[in-house]
Amino acid sequence: MKAVHTTKRALSLVERQKAPVRGTGQVKVRVQHASVNPTDLDIVNGGFDLYFRLYGAKSPERTGLEFSGLVVEGSARFPDGAHVFGYTHLIKGPKTHQQVISVPEGWVAAIPEGMSFAEAAAFPLAAQTSLVALRDVARLRPGQTVLIIGGSGGLGVFAIQIARNFGASVTGLAGPAGQRVMTALGAERVFDYRETPLSDIAGPFDAALDLSARYRFRDVRHLLAPRGVFVPADPVKNARSIAANPIRAQKTGKLYVDRGNSALLTELARQAATGALETGHVREFPLEEYRAAFETLKTPGRIGRTVLRMQ
Ligand SMILES: NC(=O)c1ccc[n+]([C@@H]2O[C@H](COP(=O)([O-])OP(=O)(O)OC[C@H]3O[C@@H](n4cnc5c(N)ncnc54)[C@H](OP(=O)(O)O)[C@@H]3O)[C@@H](O)[C@H]2O)c1
Repeated sequence: MKAVHTTKRALSLVERQKAPVRGTGQVKVRVQHASVNPTDLDIVNGGFDLYFRLYGAKSPERTGLEFSGLVVEGSARFPDGAHVFGYTHLIKGPKTHQQVISVPEGWVAAIPEGMSFAEAAAFPLAAQTSLVALRDVARLRPGQTVLIIGGSGGLGVFAIQIARNFGASVTGLAGPAGQRVMTALGAERVFDYRETPLSDIAGPFDAALDLSARYRFRDVRHLLAPRGVFVPADPVKNARSIAANPIRAQKTGKLYVDRGNSALLTELARQAATGALETGHVREFPLEEYRAAFETLKTPGRIGRTVLRMQ
C-alpha cells in the first residue's frame, strides 16, 4: 500500500508498505478519501513534538486524522463492505494518509445515504469538533448570539450551520473569499477581517469561537456578553486564560476533541442525511498530488476542506 510519510519536516510518498493487522475491537478499512488538516501541517512542522514526548510517544511519521472507506475486515456492527468514516486519535490512532488502516470501531460511523466518500472524509473532525465547541463548551442556546471567527474554513463551514441549527444568531469573520459562503450557510452578519478588525465589530456575543487560532481572550473580551464564553481552537495557546476562569465571569472554554465518537458522528450523519448539514465544501486531490493538497492549508481563501483521493 502507499502512504504519505513525514520525516525531518519534509513529506514524501512511500510505496510497498505493509498493511496493518486488525486489532481487537477494530475494523480494517480500505481508505477511499482522507482529509488534510492544519493539524497535519503541525505534525510535519514538529508543532506536536513536545506534546507527543509528554505522552511518551514518538513523533509520528504519518499524517492524516480522518478517513472514509470500505470495511475489508469488519465486525457485527460494521460488516465487510460497509461504507464508513471516522476520526482517529492524534497520539494513539493510526494515521489516515495511507491506503489501509485498522481503527477502533468506537471512532467510526456509517456514511449516510447520499454522502460521497470525499464529503464523508471531510466531515467527522470538523463537524464533531464544531458540535462539541458550540454545544458542550459554549453551551449555546436558542436565541443566543455567536461570533464564529474563521467561518469559511474547514471547521467554520460546519460551525456556522450547527450554530444556526441551535437557533443562534451567527456573525461570521473570515477573509474576502469567505464572505459569500458564510452568508449562504446562515450567518446573519459577515465581516472581512482585512477591512473590519475585531475591535470594530459590535457585540455583545454569548460565545465567540475562534477557528483561526490567532486570537486570545484579551482580543475578544470586549465583544463578550457579561457571562460570555470565548472558545479558542488552540487551547494550549490559551492555557493561561483557561486557568484564570475561576476569577472572572467571562470564561475561556477548553476545547479538545482528539478522536471520533461513534455516537456523535452517527447523530451528525443523521443531520447531514436530512439536509440540516450541508457537506459539499470539499476540494479533492489525487494522492500523488499530496504536496499540492498540503499547500492549500497555507493559502488564505480556502473554502471548507481539502481531501486526498487515496486509491
Ligand atoms: N481544539 C480542538 O479540539 C481542535 C480540533 C480540531 C481542529 N482544531 C483547530 O481548529 C482550527 C481550525 O481548523 P480549520 O481546518 O477550520 O482551519 P482553516 O480551514 O485553515 O480555517 C481558518 C479560518 O480562519 C480564517 N482566518 C485566517 N486569519 C484570520 C484572521 N486574522 N482573523 C479572522 N479569521 C482569520 C480563515 O479565513 P481566510 O482563509 O479567508 O484567511 C479561515 O476561515 C485549527 O487551528 C485546528 O488545529 C482544534
